[in-house]
Amino acid sequence: MSATIPVTLIPGDGIGPEIMDATLAALDALGSPFTWERQIAGLEGVKVAGDPLPMATLDSIRRTCLALKGPLETPSGGGYRSSNVRLREEFQLYANLRPARTLIPGGRFDKIDLVVVRENLEGLYIGHEHYIKIDDDPQAVAMATGINTRAGGRRLLEFAFDHAVATGRKKVTIVHKANIMKALTGIFLDTGLKLYEDKYKGKFELDTVIIDACAMKLVLNPWQFDMLVTTNLFGDILSDLVAGLVGGLGMTPGANIGADAAIFEAVHGSAPDIAGKGVANPIALMLAAGMMLDHCKLPDLAARLRTAIAETLNIDKVRTGDLGGKAGTAAFTSALVSRIRNG
Ligand code: NAI
Repeated sequence: MSATIPVTLIPGDGIGPEIMDATLAALDALGSPFTWERQIAGLEGVKVAGDPLPMATLDSIRRTCLALKGPLETPSGGGYRSSNVRLREEFQLYANLRPARTLIPGGRFDKIDLVVVRENLEGLYIGHEHYIKIDDDPQAVAMATGINTRAGGRRLLEFAFDHAVATGRKKVTIVHKANIMKALTGIFLDTGLKLYEDKYKGKFELDTVIIDACAMKLVLNPWQFDMLVTTNLFGDILSDLVAGLVGGLGMTPGANIGADAAIFEAVHGSAPDIAGKGVANPIALMLAAGMMLDHCKLPDLAARLRTAIAETLNIDKVRTGDLGGKAGTAAFTSALVSRIRNG
């Protein structure tokens, strides 16, 4: 076994602690080399430390450069910014990698294997928003500014293209709306086309599609796509659409990757409607842990985890309620742990 790898662990809010315990049990059964620095954030951070992103948590990620994170709730009121957005900005996690693969065959959309790569720091998510008062209405007009830079687009597109080459993707599709937002999304499209001509031509096929047509095509025939690369807002929306093709939010992991740090999480939120009931599906966070194993150059452990998840679902037929099964989080986890130990 390789040397230990310290990782910041943030169980998170709502179902976070339940799915994190399940994920730790799976990693433990695998004999992963991770050691954990347990930290808090989100609502838990506000309760315990008066800050949704306490300094100790940030310091820990600065040390480890790696985090496995449960979902974080942003307290409403109190003027708090989203802890997730703050984390991405603090560690310049410019690339959001969201793969979606069919794990249960025979559904409405079978054999899906798609990856969405989303720019994570720019666009309309930068928070430059304000209202303009007219007469006695203080919020008569709402304005938002989006900013996309050539440098920011280029480093994300380079990340996506390199990932496509490294993982053998045949086709990359740039998703944009340059027919209407000619500057804001045109700069991303132009940068991608030029980068492909300069450095990547022949390594994979490059295609472009307008976001609205892309949404329709994904529902009619998702198999025509292989990797989608796009700006922040479009990527956020499309990755949820793609999650729906493979059984919902309980099945899709995400990685937030920068030059110096990486944070792994489920795509879904804290699911307050089912928190504490022991019914949450832990697979999305487990798959995020699998991405972290790949990131740490431990692909054999990642593959064992993914195989054990697929076998638990399809051979043992143990599934949580969101997948039409009857198992709770604990029953699914113990079936998975047996698969890992006996596999
Ligand atoms: P959500 O993803 O928490 O829940 C949407 C629906 O999916 C709910 O019905 C929920 O029960 C179900 N669901 C989600 N994950 C599931 C799982 N693992 N197993 C079974 N069912 C699952 O989205 P919602 O309700 O919009 O957000 C709740 C909170 O989470 C908000 O405070 C939001 O800001 C936060 N959030 C945090 C994210 C993060 O930390 N990365 C991402 C998205 C939302």
